[in-house]
Amino acid sequence: MCGIVGYLGNPEKTIGVLLNGLKSLEYRGYDSSGICIVSDEERNIFKSEGKLENLRLKIEGQNLTAPTGIGHTRWATHGKPTENNAHPHSSGPVSIVHNGIIENYKELKDALSKKGHKFYSDTDTEVLAHLVDEYYHDGVLLEEATVKGFADVEGSYAVAILSENEPDKIVALRKFSPLVIAENEEEKFIASDVPAILPYSKNIIFLEDGDIAVITPDALKIIDSEGKEIKREKKLINWDPVMIEKAGFRHYMLKEIHEQPRAILDTIRGRFSEADYTMEFQELLKLNLKKISKVLILGCGTSYHASLIGKYLIESIAGISTEVDLSSEFRYRDNVIDKNTVVILISQSGETADTSEALIAAKKQGAVTIGLTNVEMSKIAREADFTVYTKAGPEIGVASTKAFTTQIITIYMLAVFMSISIKRIDKVQSKELIKSLISLPKLMQVALELDKSILNLAKEFHTYRNFIYLGRGINYPVALEGSLKLKEISYIHAEGYAAGEMKHGPIALIDENMPVVLIAPKHGNYFKKIMGNFQEIKARGGRIIVITSDETFKNQLGGDDRIVLIPECSELLSPLVTVIPLQFLAYHIANLLGTDIDQPRNLAKVVTVE
Ligand code: G6P
Repeated sequence: MCGIVGYLGNPEKTIGVLLNGLKSLEYRGYDSSGICIVSDEERNIFKSEGKLENLRLKIEGQNLTAPTGIGHTRWATHGKPTENNAHPHSSGPVSIVHNGIIENYKELKDALSKKGHKFYSDTDTEVLAHLVDEYYHDGVLLEEATVKGFADVEGSYAVAILSENEPDKIVALRKFSPLVIAENEEEKFIASDVPAILPYSKNIIFLEDGDIAVITPDALKIIDSEGKEIKREKKLINWDPVMIEKAGFRHYMLKEIHEQPRAILDTIRGRFSEADYTMEFQELLKLNLKKISKVLILGCGTSYHASLIGKYLIESIAGISTEVDLSSEFRYRDNVIDKNTVVILISQSGETADTSEALIAAKKQGAVTIGLTNVEMSKIAREADFTVYTKAGPEIGVASTKAFTTQIITIYMLAVFMSISIKRIDKVQSKELIKSLISLPKLMQVALELDKSILNLAKEFHTYRNFIYLGRGINYPVALEGSLKLKEISYIHAEGYAAGEMKHGPIALIDENMPVVLIAPKHGNYFKKIMGNFQEIKARGGRIIVITSDETFKNQLGGDDRIVLIPECSELLSPLVTVIPLQFLAYHIANLLGTDIDQPRNLAKVVTVE
């Protein structure tokens, strides 16, 4: 959701480190931002509405130095994204930045108001500053006041706190929201996500719920609420800082689309044996699959679409009955799962609140849980019984691309592993499945060459205000994902439908103003059926973009229709190829419309609120 950074070190570098850190976290929230710096002489706070650039312009040229600072980039929950509501929030000498939601902030605010505290913003965060200030008297240390103040706080938070009375200190604490700390020889860092720290240190400490970090020039000390010191291991993060740069691409999203063959290779590498074509899931060695009667896959947004594809893969390859649900729906209904159910939680970030809460609910019911995530040490990675990682590398564009395809390939491998483990397939069959996996990065590379031709398509289609995406079978979720991409970044209305459902409603929408994107790779039964849908749309004057591996489709097209030829690929892996032109289509249409592609309005990359 929001991004937090903190720095303690060289006074000349503080502003730069804070602004660069916020820049790398901007994907977490980008409606307003602010920093607070303190030195022995003074505390300075700067805030700005809108993008981080506005804050940078405000600070530029002021020649500010201070050894200690905190910063924040916001995704509004309580209170509009105005400068007044931007973090840091202060009370007395205390300034604070916060990610999360304080559920009992109204009660706390009323109680503090009665004690004479005056509030200036509409945020829940301001209450936290007043709470700490309330306990921060002479002789009390900032960490002590923090512990007392937070004793009554309900909700989720990651916070960093400064005081002008103790300018050489940052106190940071977390509950249900991520926070990492690190140091090098001269400097100390805090952030809500690794990319902000990576240029300075690769040895990261992941704070756990309830940890309180007291950061001073001499130490990164972690204590519990009783003041007892806690030791946390440093974890070496091998992400190259270059991975979080745009590498010459205009947007992160475009870079990440092009990175997909590499991400797929990294994800499959080391997970199968070329000698005997078996899958090697070290992570799942202790999982007794013979006892499993059902799989349930949960996710949100794009991860939900990967979950839907997972159902096709697991049922087809492993023959285990598989259900899929949105994490936010699963949690609030009476679901039937037990110790013989495997619940797979798919989440790029590993921090999505709906999915991590669903994980807790599934564990309570005795199910075996597998987290499938891209982020090491994320909440889901830490709490699931087993964790399987995608190796997409950092995904910065808010609209997910390489995370989606690496999620699909990972479920595919899981399905093969399951199938081998329960002896549903023999060596010959597993060899076939694994072989088609190995050829995939090449096929995706061929699909990436469509970039320019899809730009031309986008030029023709970017003025339409509505689109329908249709797909069948394993490509039905791809229709959902293609339409989601378009909605997210171009703000054009798009609906994804199972092609067979078109006649039950959406067909009423078809006319010359409603382009239809038809996903039709050439596979057995589905292909013939989709040809039928094609004719139905033509008969009603619709304009079609067909994504297919069958060149002969050309002969069927009307003058207004367009064809996108993709390489042939096994049916079960076809979503990894069919989705690429759809990612490009959304990207180029959005680019022509001039929207903010990497940070589309109202969205956030990591949604840590329900
Ligand atoms: C947000 C992002 C989406 C993402 C969804 C789930 O809405 O904008 O791109 O698909 O969260 O995120 P997760 O990290 O759980 O995959």
